[in-house]
Order: sequence, then structure tokens, then C-alpha cells
Amino acid sequence: MEFKSKIKTIEWVDNYSKMVDQTVIPYEYKFINVTTGDNMFHAIRDMIVRGAPAIGIAGAHGIVLYAQEGAKKFTNVEDFKIWLIDKAEYMKTSRPTAVNLMWACQKQIEIIRNSKSDINGIVEELKQNGIKLENEDIEINKKIGDYGAEVVPKGATILTHCNAGALATVGYGTALGVVRSAYAKDNTIQVFADETRPRQQGARITTFELAMDGIPVTLITDGMCSYFMSKGMIDMVVVGADRIAANGDTANKIGTYTVAIAAKYHNIPFYIAAPLSTIDTSIKTGKEIPIEERSHEEVTHINGKRICAEGVNIINPGFDVTPHELIAGIITEKGILRPDYNKSISEAFEK
Ligand code: MRU
Repeated sequence: MEFKSKIKTIEWVDNYSKMVDQTVIPYEYKFINVTTGDNMFHAIRDMIVRGAPAIGIAGAHGIVLYAQEGAKKFTNVEDFKIWLIDKAEYMKTSRPTAVNLMWACQKQIEIIRNSKSDINGIVEELKQNGIKLENEDIEINKKIGDYGAEVVPKGATILTHCNAGALATVGYGTALGVVRSAYAKDNTIQVFADETRPRQQGARITTFELAMDGIPVTLITDGMCSYFMSKGMIDMVVVGADRIAANGDTANKIGTYTVAIAAKYHNIPFYIAAPLSTIDTSIKTGKEIPIEERSHEEVTHINGKRICAEGVNIINPGFDVTPHELIAGIITEKGILRPDYNKSISEAFEK
């Protein structure tokens, strides 16, 4: 039985990109239309759209928007291509850690480079590729969900961190895709969601989308996870990923590493759920993953109100890297990869 999720986070419509505005969840569930390449750059940077696979699709759509703008400016196809590749490279820089953004933008760059079409033909090819990536994302997530559901024990309580759900992808989700597929088979499972300071993606987004789909969820603060593990109340952990190195080291939302250490201590399996597009085989270990440093106000303020003394020092890395030794498996659309990750990752790309 397939789980039907109601959420579609991002979608190409006629000549613009329509997306859920994630900055206002859970107070509002509204869509915005992004109609220019520069606006897409800002939508990604300001996290109107967020989550590794979702920003990949947003980047691909953003390049179509730039292409539409360029088609009004240029008559020479080679000049158009040079200008557009420059814009696509710029789009890649809208956020640094999630490699899906660079992956999807690179797919569009290859189309621009290799196309033999005229300017309007290139715009159409980019648009069709954006729609294809969009549709594939949902199919890939369903496969991840189905593979992951096989390792979810009956009646399990699954802990997750941040939001790796339908709202972090085009739909269905990666970590929450595993939850959705498992719930379709066994409606006695439930989720514990870490709040995920500082931006509260767990509290604001994960609980919102699970409640919307009728899946039982309990919100806990980040510091509570070891307590519930020690009480035997957590059966497994499943989180998403922003970038996975060739050896399996995984960057995900700040706080993930702490959860992985706690899970190891309590002998609870800790899984990553992510598409192969999140794996960056060009880097050997997690040490090479660039970590986004975000604004200090995310830490000093909650809902616009200061929560600490003026003048305190702030450091705000958006992500941390979980060493591969702490990861029981990486759930992908090609199956569950197990250690040795250097071997299982390279085999997955060959399948
Ligand atoms: O800063 P965000 O909200 O974009 O970070 C998102 C995460 O860290 C997610 O867990 C990750 O992208 C996986 S999304 C399927």
C-alpha cells in the first residue's frame, strides 16, 4: 500500500516556479511564485525553500528563469550560453553545504553546453529537464522510503532531527519518506522530532508536515534525545543529509552529530536517508565539506526577541559532520548502503 502525501513543495508552472514559503510555517501554509533568476537565488539563500533536494530543484528552476530572461536580451546563441553558464555558476553559490544544489545546477550547465538548439530551444530543454528532475525526486524518495521501511521494527519510535521530509524535497521526503512508507505498512509506528535549534526546522516543519499527513509525532527539545534513548523509548534514528563524502561521513543539520553519538552509546541504529545526488564522491572525507556559517541573529533571537545579553560572542555553523563509524546504513534509491562505505558507495553508482 502506497502512502499518499498531500505536499508538493516546489513545482514548475508555465513560466515560473511555484513553491511553499517555508519561512511562515506553521503560522501559514502559502505558496509563492518565483519569476526571476535573482529572486530564486534569494529564495534559496533566505531559506524560503530549504532542504538539500528541494534547493537542488530550485536551483534548476532558477536557471530556467535566467534563461527566459536571457532569451529577451541575446540574439547570438554563443553569447547567450556564456552569459547563462555564468548565471548558473552564480546560482550554485546561493548556499554552500548541500551538494544537491551544485549537482542540479551542473545538470543544467551540461544541457546549455551540449545543446545544438537555438536560444528558445535551449530554454525549452532546460525547462523540460527541470520538470524531469522534479518528477524523479518524488520517485527516488519513494524508493528510499520503501528500502528504509524494511529496517523499521514493528511499532517503532523513530527519532529524527531537522526536516528531511516532503518539505525538504519535491515531495514525500527522504528520512520522512522512510517514515511514510513504514507507516503505510504499520500504523503503530511514531516519530519523535527534535526541535532543531536555531531555526527550528523540526518544531516548525517536521511536526507540521507529519500532522498534516496524520502521522503521530512528539516534539522534543534537542537536549532531550539521550534521556529518551536511555529510557528505551527510541528504536532507531533516521535523518537526512546535505552532503555525504566518499567514505560515508555525512553533513546534516547542526546537532545531528550529537544525536549520532547518543545513539551509538545506547546501541540504537542511526541511519541516513538520502538520494545518490547527495553523495559527493569528489571528496574523500567529511573534513572537506564546506560548512555554512549563518547569521548570529538566529542564535541571539527567537521570533525577533533577544534571548541573551548584548555583546556575547556567537558562532553559528548550520551543519555538522557525522563520522561514518556512527552510521548503521545510508538508505538510498539503490538500496541500503552498509560499511565499508567507500566500497558500497562506489558500487551504488555502478548499479
Ligand atoms: O538548513 P536547511 O533547513 O536547508 O537544512 C536541511 C537539512 O539539514 C536536512 O536535514 C537535509 O537537507 C536533508 S533534506 C532531505
